[in-house]
Amino acid sequence: MQATVIGTGYVGLVTAIGLAENGHEVTCVDLNAERMERLAQGIAPITEEGIEDALRLNRERLTFTTDYPASDLYLIAVGTPERADGSCDLSAVEAVARLIEETSPGASVIVKSTVPPGTTARLQDEHPTLRFAMVPEFLREGTALADNRQPSRLIIGTTDATFAKTVEQLFQTTAPVVVVDPTTAELTKYAANSFLAVKISFINEIARLADAVGADVTEVAHGIGLDPRIGSAFLRAGAGYGGSCFPKDIAALTTLARTHETTLHVIEAADRTNEAQLDYVLAKIRPERGMRVALLGLAFKPGTDDLRDAPALRLAERLEQLGVVVVGYDPAARTLLDQKPTLEEALRGADVAVIMTEWPEMKAVAPELLTRVMQTPRLIDGRNCWQYVDAPAGVAYEAIGRPGKEFSNKR
Ligand code: UDX
Repeated sequence: MQATVIGTGYVGLVTAIGLAENGHEVTCVDLNAERMERLAQGIAPITEEGIEDALRLNRERLTFTTDYPASDLYLIAVGTPERADGSCDLSAVEAVARLIEETSPGASVIVKSTVPPGTTARLQDEHPTLRFAMVPEFLREGTALADNRQPSRLIIGTTDATFAKTVEQLFQTTAPVVVVDPTTAELTKYAANSFLAVKISFINEIARLADAVGADVTEVAHGIGLDPRIGSAFLRAGAGYGGSCFPKDIAALTTLARTHETTLHVIEAADRTNEAQLDYVLAKIRPERGMRVALLGLAFKPGTDDLRDAPALRLAERLEQLGVVVVGYDPAARTLLDQKPTLEEALRGADVAVIMTEWPEMKAVAPELLTRVMQTPRLIDGRNCWQYVDAPAGVAYEAIGRPGKEFSNKR
């Protein structure tokens, strides 16, 4: 089959590669000419495991252009950023739908962008010559290609059985296929992300209580996770969630709910807890004017250089408002305040180091390095990634919801 993917961000690019891997001829369209030129040379605009190999292996089935080609089948994967009021900015999606109608009336259009429930139905009303389906994307950054090759499910939002079959042939998966109406597909995407955010905020609250009563939240998570009704995934307590999806999607969903005079108490609480978790880490630092803090890890999670809504950046901002000198180190994302220190440089002379992203490098920091170069060897493990040992490491160590024994990164 032939398909045209509009937008080459995370979702668009990874979807296009997946379709090419399935043997389809894919044209990728993006307004960013430089990005298209680089992609044509096999250079990816995002850091993602295996992406440049995949671009090379599938180059015969992938075309990159800034022009809108006529096509029978389009996938819309443009951004849907957050507006100042928390709602979802759909202007890019709407502009693309108009262009498709002008270029190829009668075409089939799959909405891949995350859009609020009701959007695809509205697009269908506004563009009756086009045929719309909504197929949400569940990939995670850092494991995007693997997630794309082995999705947990394929949700197809269309009431048109023939179109649903086309979508199935396009994505070719052995995962369960759920065919629903577009609005249900849209809500499924938001419900999935909100539920995961709730799980994280839930365990972060338990972590604060664990600190207060002297219990170990990692063991609590293990203990409750063994119940298959709860499940062990997404129960890692820490400095809270960030990234391009959870904060934005929760804002969009709660804002939409309010326009329908519905309050999503649990989901709003997850968001507030996530904010409070940053205050909690801040309080552990005991910030003072002139103090020097090393943030170890800036990306919103390991395996990516993505700084969007990264808790480390939000924490850095708060610390700087309090007159604290912040030095950030990240193995991939190196853009904070244009500083590009090495790990050792970041630690040198610091009063406190705070692990904000659980990169393997952070797990392997030698306690000797902390005692040698820091002003005071104090470590706050905002991702609970160091392990217990018997021997004291000589480092004042504090985690999130784990009792104050001596820790080290060596078992
Ligand atoms: C998420 C969803 O997982 C994915 O299905 C959706 O398509 C996009 O949003 P992503 O944003 O790439 O993916 O990252 P994810 O691995 O879900 O982590 C999100 C945030 O939650 C990170 O900041 C991470 O550090 C945090 N997190 C995750 C925790 O704090 N604890 C956990 O147990 C899991």
